[in-house]
Amino acid sequence: MANKLRFDGKVVVITGAGAGLGKAYALLFASRGAKVVINDLGGGRHGDGSNTKVADTVVSEIKQSGGEAVANYDNVLEGEKIVQTAINTYGRIDILVNNAGILRDKTFARMSESDWDVIHNVHVKGSMKTTQAAWPYFRKQKYGKIIFTSSNSGLYGNFGQANYSSAKMALIGLANTLAIEGQSSGIYTNVIVPTAGSRLTEDIVPPDFFNELKPELIAPIVLWLCHEDCSENGSIIESALGWAGKCHLIRSNGCILRSNKNELINPEAVQDNWGKIIDMTNAKHYESIVDVSGELMNVIESFSNKKQYDHVIKDTYSNRDVILYALSVGATVENSCDYPYLYENHENFSVLPTFYIIYGAWGAISSNMLTNSLPNRQINLAGVVHGEQYFKVLKNIPTEATVETRFHIQATLDKGKNAMIIIKHETFDTNNGDKITEGQLVGVVIGAGGFGGPKNSQYEIPIVPLPKRKPDISITQSTSYDQAALYRLGSHDFNPLHIDPNISQMGGYEKPILHGLCSLGFSTRHVLNTFADGDSQLFDSMKVRFSKPVTPGNTLRTDMWREGNRIHFETVILETGIQVITGAYIDLKEVKYRLPNSRL
Ligand SMILES: *[C@@H]1O[C@H](CO)[C@@H](O)[C@H](O)[C@H]1NC(C)=O
Ligand SMILES: *[C@@H]1O[C@H](CO)[C@@H](O)[C@H](O)[C@H]1NC(C)=O
Ligand SMILES: *[C@@H]1O[C@H](CO)[C@@H](O)[C@H](O)[C@H]1NC(C)=O
Ligand SMILES: *[C@@H]1O[C@H](CO)[C@@H](O)[C@H](O)[C@H]1NC(C)=O
Repeated sequence: MANKLRFDGKVVVITGAGAGLGKAYALLFASRGAKVVINDLGGGRHGDGSNTKVADTVVSEIKQSGGEAVANYDNVLEGEKIVQTAINTYGRIDILVNNAGILRDKTFARMSESDWDVIHNVHVKGSMKTTQAAWPYFRKQKYGKIIFTSSNSGLYGNFGQANYSSAKMALIGLANTLAIEGQSSGIYTNVIVPTAGSRLTEDIVPPDFFNELKPELIAPIVLWLCHEDCSENGSIIESALGWAGKCHLIRSNGCILRSNKNELINPEAVQDNWGKIIDMTNAKHYESIVDVSGELMNVIESFSNKKQYDHVIKDTYSNRDVILYALSVGATVENSCDYPYLYENHENFSVLPTFYIIYGAWGAISSNMLTNSLPNRQINLAGVVHGEQYFKVLKNIPTEATVETRFHIQATLDKGKNAMIIIKHETFDTNNGDKITEGQLVGVVIGAGGFGGPKNSQYEIPIVPLPKRKPDISITQSTSYDQAALYRLGSHDFNPLHIDPNISQMGGYEKPILHGLCSLGFSTRHVLNTFADGDSQLFDSMKVRFSKPVTPGNTLRTDMWREGNRIHFETVILETGIQVITGAYIDLKEVKYRLPNSRL
């Protein structure tokens, strides 16, 4: 819709409006109903000479088109005179576009102090003076729009422009603070970073390119930033050739270089951690100095909160590990829902969420958390079964990461015949400190009850009974004879119970049994494939009980019931009808059907 953004009744002051960008702004503002003060000294691009004709020409061009404009010939260092022209002529000022600038390029080695001063005077002090003159009017009327003009030679540096680059960056700092100080007065301050063909760039860029860098392509961006409907504030907007984008500073996640408040750091610690300090993978933009300080406070807090964990394990995994895991819990390229777990170049390559459950069992087995958990007695791992498992995903699971899992023994319960150890496990991305998943593993030590410990704990997470009706849907899939052998590799759970017949016999099993978490991986896929269209990101949490072991080669049937976003399920050995996972549920963030015309 043409000409919708109007500036009727608004008064705009534009410095350096005699040509180039300033002129393009002026013509566009005037054509949209604004009254425009055309400031221009009429100097050359080096800031030499003056000539009232430049400003006058623009004014008459505007008037000829039926617009309103007035000329001003003052130096921006006398910004109050420029603003006064607006007040005297139109009685107000609403918008100030600080655009005037000059260039004097030389290498830093040859730059004189006066070269520095003249540039800083025009760009920084001139913008400051003009803005300061407009500021009280803006505050009084509780409305004002300010534009500063920066440059990508400031943002990125440019050979021979030491004075200019520094001045242009100074304006960004000025705008950052004015955006905050103007907050309570409805004053919006933004920075434009134009690349345009103008007096400043005339013989700096090649002629063909110069002709493409039309100031008219930048003016609409400035107009929008100055319109009352635009709430942008404190932003840096780059624009050229009909393109515009926002630019801001980002900071790496960094790295803490000492482990407690009383420690100092040495230069070698900096050297050793340099890679982490400058790793921009999770770099962030901070909206305010308050956010940055808040994060620094966390550094101190991390020292005082240093909690003693019962066990910690670290792991770095890559595509290969998550694919191997998926294979080890029965994912197959034959199933389109499983395929994204198996191919790293798949558009939706993702990690089966239960990949993170393995850290629970891994930590429990690789430590003495279980074997030393009971008073006055050493426990043999072959006598411990994985009784229950709770698991929740808190952040999208990265396809590769270095993670740390922290373990905390929450309770050691005396259940009469058996003992029950409740272990919480939380897994963090060490790169950004995000907690990705948390879970709770319940180990049951057969025949080890009666030691006089507590019977119950607030930490116990109950399983829930299944709906009474027949399953809404069932999925059947065979395990292979080598399923446990494969799962050991996929999960790092090298408990010999699952591979060594002598050990499994000691545990009372005829043959090595399949890991409970392996069967759980099968059923989790069945639920996700049925109720989440294979979208692993819809997984929220689960709780299950492992009732009986599975022997590799058994066929698993997952019976499922939907109740809202909760999918109850039970896993049964098809050949024998024995229930192996009971009272189980998976909570999804959302249910997405795959089955056509499903009644579910
Ligand atoms: C900026 O410094 C250069 C030397 O690096 C100098 O040639 C140039 O004149 C200065 N620009 C201005 C506008 O003073
Ligand atoms: C302007 O931006 C600053 C910083 O981004 C913000 O604190 C302030 O609320 C904004 N002011 C207005 C009027 O939106
Ligand atoms: C990836 O997921 C999106 C969203 O679910 C889907 O539209 C797209 O078809 C998937 N891509 C492939 C190759 O399956
Ligand atoms: C199991 O025990 C028998 C008898 O002690 C021994 O010969 C055999 O090598 C053992 N098997 C394994 C896999 O360790």
